[in-house]
Amino acid sequence: MLGGTERLLWLLLLSLLLPPPSAWGHGGQARPREGTEEAGSAGAWLAFKGLRERLRAAGALSRRYWALFSCRVWPEGCGKDEEASARPPAWSFALLGQQYLDILSTWSCSFWDCCDRGDCRIINNFTGLEADLRVRLHGQHLARELVLTAVRAYLEMPRPDKALALSFHGWSGTGKNFVARMLAENLYQDGLRSDCVKVFISTLHFPHPKNVDLYEEELTDKIRKTQEHCRQTLFILDEAEKLHPGLLEALRPHLERQAPSNRRAESKRTIFLFLSNLGGNIINEVVLNLLKAGQSREEVRMEHLESRLQAEIVASTDSGFGHSRLVKENLIDLFIPFLPLEFRHVRLCARDAFLSQDLLYTEEALDEIARMMVYVPKEEQLFSSQGCKSISQRISYVLPEG
Ligand SMILES: *[C@@H]1O[C@H](CO)[C@@H](O)[C@H](O)[C@H]1NC(C)=O
Repeated sequence: MLGGTERLLWLLLLSLLLPPPSAWGHGGQARPREGTEEAGSAGAWLAFKGLRERLRAAGALSRRYWALFSCRVWPEGCGKDEEASARPPAWSFALLGQQYLDILSTWSCSFWDCCDRGDCRIINNFTGLEADLRVRLHGQHLARELVLTAVRAYLEMPRPDKALALSFHGWSGTGKNFVARMLAENLYQDGLRSDCVKVFISTLHFPHPKNVDLYEEELTDKIRKTQEHCRQTLFILDEAEKLHPGLLEALRPHLERQAPSNRRAESKRTIFLFLSNLGGNIINEVVLNLLKAGQSREEVRMEHLESRLQAEIVASTDSGFGHSRLVKENLIDLFIPFLPLEFRHVRLCARDAFLSQDLLYTEEALDEIARMMVYVPKEEQLFSSQGCKSISQRISYVLPEG
């Protein structure tokens, strides 16, 4: 084993010493200095130990890719600043890191037995997904049902000729990101860290409209590379309402039906999730009216919402999404509404936050936390305006002193 390991390590080091093709073309980054003196002297094991520091020093890996990689190789130090590391500092930097990550992944996969078969630890655990949606997601009976059915049907289809595109709609804090994460976690062993899962956040990854040409290239390149690498990919586009029309157009070919002759591999599957607050107000209005008319929340059906939600999305003037050909040409398979959360749902989120931190709670504490949220509309005070957002931070306010 060690003999093989050593050889691989040398190969890896060697590949690190050679700049990957076209890695230096973006944004004029300084080329990280790669000393060559260790190459000849120290043993492979020392080089392995030094690799950590070396990569850090080289600065070629963005924090995110460093986190992804170190998690895979040194899992004991993992998951501490997951939130922070999930947000790469900037595109060009991330791109630079990606080149190295590809090299490193290929290498690490020789130990972890993953990407060489193109399955990158795909698990597709529908039991787990169903349980997560049932137990951890609160107040979203429609999303729970639609997401599970759609994803399952798509992934069990023998020969899909198109990507699955789901668009999540609703106010912030209603669980759109939460469900996206549940999908990643139940479809891939490594969840959001999987090489087959990519998250794009509009304001973070595509902040400057003037750079849209560059972003388009980077986005399509990343999609293509991920698809080459994995037979099943998941792309999450957060803040979809802020996506530049050019980027939406760049995504279109990836969502279109592929002619059979055009299909590279029959079994490739792609899921796109678009997350946005578009239509959130109309969803709330419909739910409010039904509740006021004496119906229970669970009686709200897609028939009540579907056409009005779609009309609202198409009519929205402050976003390119509704006018994009993705929507106009029906390339989005499902528009999934996330309903506004009520006091009792916020309580459940608070309870989960206590449980997940192994803390004891009282019913009064749950009430207290739920009362911290602002409820709208002014008159009825039914819906939490921030949903369950930041609940886990809020529980620290009600923990007993000392
Ligand atoms: C699927 O998820 C459930 C619940 O998280 C878990 O108990 C089960 O072991 C998982 N199954 C597989 C095959 O990973």
